Amino acid sequence: MKRIAILTSGGDAPGMNACIRSVVKTAIGSGMEVMGVLRGYKGLIEDEFISLSHKEVSGIMQRGGTVLYTSRCPEFVSKEGQKRALENLKKYEIEGLVVLGGDGSYAGAIALAKAGVNVVAIPATIDNDLYYTDHTLGFDTAVNTITSLINNIRDTASSHERPSVIEVMGAYCGDIALNVGAGVGAEIILVPEVKVTDKQIVDAVEKCETIGKSSCMIITNEKVYDASKLSDLINKRTGVASRPLEVGHIQRGGSPSAFDRVLALKFGACAVKMLVDGKSGAVGDKNGDIIAVELSAALKGSRQFDYNLYQLALKSAGDVLKLQKP
Ligand code: ADP
Ligand code: F6P
Repeated sequence: MKRIAILTSGGDAPGMNACIRSVVKTAIGSGMEVMGVLRGYKGLIEDEFISLSHKEVSGIMQRGGTVLYTSRCPEFVSKEGQKRALENLKKYEIEGLVVLGGDGSYAGAIALAKAGVNVVAIPATIDNDLYYTDHTLGFDTAVNTITSLINNIRDTASSHERPSVIEVMGAYCGDIALNVGAGVGAEIILVPEVKVTDKQIVDAVEKCETIGKSSCMIITNEKVYDASKLSDLINKRTGVASRPLEVGHIQRGGSPSAFDRVLALKFGACAVKMLVDGKSGAVGDKNGDIIAVELSAALKGSRQFDYNLYQLALKSAGDVLKLQKP
């Protein structure tokens, strides 16, 4: 294999740059040329290719976001869009493609693989919503970013003795909310995987008051509740003066954690090796090992929610949220 390309697609994630660096360095070390495709599948369709050498990837490892830019590209879902992308890959004599992104980007990678392209997908999204891998790039950083923000919020919330409602991202996966909630000792954690009624939430907030907790931290996944709406509901039904915060895109930016950088390094090296061996697939990690699965298998199944951690986190924070058995 003489020339490969790399693109980043969908929501950006901390660690994408460290992974681009890993792919470029490993590929050059294996005697290959690397091209970067700008703006994900949009650049593949609109012919936005650049050459990547040691120079372009120097000093990017510690930066959040993606130097290749990213986009959501509805045109690529159509056969016509994919046809144009394939023509450009042919024009530049690209023999292998590395795609960094989340489940939507994986669907795009599968479409290209079906058309005969050697594609390796690398999980890069803060959501941690790809079931075959323990971690997606960016998840660890996002959890750490939100956790340090909440340290500040806890200070002021406990000084005023009032509840805080914090809305975090994660799409339909509760992993960000769960891990943030467990790490900050949140009294209430709301995730798509566990049904909690408004009454249970209100009762839990009231219980915090009656047992004399100086603050009550409520972490909600973005698909379960909007922070302002939940805060209003709590205030109306309990008479407290909770404050809402939608963490927003602060959680998606920032310098990647050491964990994400090391994972990026390993994922990138593994992806290049797979292409050198003429293989397509999806790279991931399981129990500390780097693994590869068939691309088509990467989107099957659903993520196992860590209900034990969920229960442990709630119990350790005073057991105020009373749940029915799942
Ligand atoms: P993420 O990869 O972070 O989940 P998106 O869901 O927005 O982000 O998907 C990123 C891009 O992947 C989309 O904008 C589109 O170009 C491509 N994509 C998504 N679904 C498909 C599909 N079914 N077939 C082909 N391409 C797809
Ligand atoms: O997939 C990453 C993610 O940040 C999700 O957690 C969130 O639902 C979505 O993207 C937000 O996308 P944007 O604000 O870029 O449209």
